Amino acid sequence: MQTLAIIKPDAIASGKAGAILKHLQEAGFTLRAARLVRLTLPQAEAFYGVHKGRPFFPELVAFMTSGPCMPMALVRADAVAHLRTVIGATDPAEAAPGTIRKLYAESKGRNAIHASDSDENAAREIAFFFTEGELAGLVG
Ligand code: RTP
Ligand code: MG
Repeated sequence: MQTLAIIKPDAIASGKAGAILKHLQEAGFTLRAARLVRLTLPQAEAFYGVHKGRPFFPELVAFMTSGPCMPMALVRADAVAHLRTVIGATDPAEAAPGTIRKLYAESKGRNAIHASDSDENAAREIAFFFTEGELAGLVG
């Protein structure tokens, strides 16, 4: 099973990408694909399209386009649910101790990492960033 994580621009800018990747690998995830990318506004609006119209949407897409981010396809048993547990609650103030957002996030908006919330969205989000050719022949 697989899921998509994105190390968000705040964590890339503050030099936490390495620590977050180590955390993910120690939690049992294998990297299937990864890249560093700066999203355009249309890409960020499409990726988070489910939130269009919400009050935080303009701030969210501005943040996600503010600098490079690192999408990665991750493989593990029960990948979607386990990654959501490992990253913690959206707001780091409410995230459990030891979770990535508790350790590395700045705020509810600038919260270090994204994770897919269902198998269906994981497949959609992996396909958003990676071609079949890039995924073929690798682990998972
Ligand atoms: P994500 O999709 O990035 O993994 O985050 P999530 O599931 O924990 O939270 P979601 O409700 O999907 O919200 C997406 C992202 O929008 C920003 N947000 N800001 N200021 C706010 O009230 C607020 N609410 C959401 C966060 O960056 C959140 O991760
Ligand atoms: Mg979400």
